[in-house]
Amino acid sequence: MFLNVDANEYLLNDIDTYMIQLHKFLLSYSDNQQDFWDELEKNIEKYNLSATFMGRDVPKETRKEFVKTYFAKYNKESYIKLRTDFNQNKENMMLLYMLLIYGFNRMLRFNANGDFNLPVGNVDFNKNVVNALNAYFDYVKDRDIQFFNMDYQDFINKIEPTKNDFIYLDPPYLITFSEYNKLWDEDSEMRLIHFLDEIDERGIRFAVSNILWHRTRYNGTFNEWAQQYNIVRIQSNYISYHDNTEKDSYEVLVKNY
Ligand SMILES: C[S@@+](CC[C@H](N)C(=O)[O-])C[C@H]1O[C@@H](n2cnc3c(N)ncnc32)[C@H](O)[C@@H]1O
Repeated sequence: MFLNVDANEYLLNDIDTYMIQLHKFLLSYSDNQQDFWDELEKNIEKYNLSATFMGRDVPKETRKEFVKTYFAKYNKESYIKLRTDFNQNKENMMLLYMLLIYGFNRMLRFNANGDFNLPVGNVDFNKNVVNALNAYFDYVKDRDIQFFNMDYQDFINKIEPTKNDFIYLDPPYLITFSEYNKLWDEDSEMRLIHFLDEIDERGIRFAVSNILWHRTRYNGTFNEWAQQYNIVRIQSNYISYHDNTEKDSYEVLVKNY
């Protein structure tokens, strides 16, 4: 959302520490982007990963043998080495960023011991990733952006929003399955909607994303609460890990303005 909204100041928060660390890490390179690319290329070479953007393609024979899975086959061993190294030094955000790009479904996932545990993805560091990252660097470069890492309610209370602010929330979805939904339950949802009513009473504009129904599951609590506000259906065409094709899900943005 912040990449698509023009504002004087951006205050961004997530309870996930790695997510915030990754953003801070990327942001730190926005004024010297070449340093980022140099450091990245050094690591890609060190781990011997494929990277079509820098001409490191998977050999023809591997492509022929594993027609649909050659990136995963080629990168598997290197990726496991990368993952082991990151798990030994979890401060290294370049390694975590690379795990995100080369890993399964481009997600972050950790086991109970706090170790990154996704398998290799059938993906590559290609030109699209390069373009997206360059666009990110250029976008954040001269903007006033601050990151926070705490519970959303503590965060919003801390920043003391006024009527000139706009709050967008993208909470976990109660009724779909995703890594970050694990800690979200009916009580979390109740706390959120009560807090949003409070924000509304204070005259502050908000918008919140959610899914009203997904396959056979229905989010009654949220749906009933949302009726008092403006409900905009989102017809998304992006590739979603919730598999939210039109017939499967009803995805919405609920606004109090
Ligand atoms: C649907 S995801 C949104 C991710 C983000 N908007 C993005 O596009 O990458 C939900 C996010 O809520 C975060 N979250 C869960 N509980 C939270 C809480 N109590 N306070 C703040 N963030 C929370 C999760 O860590 C997760 O990143």
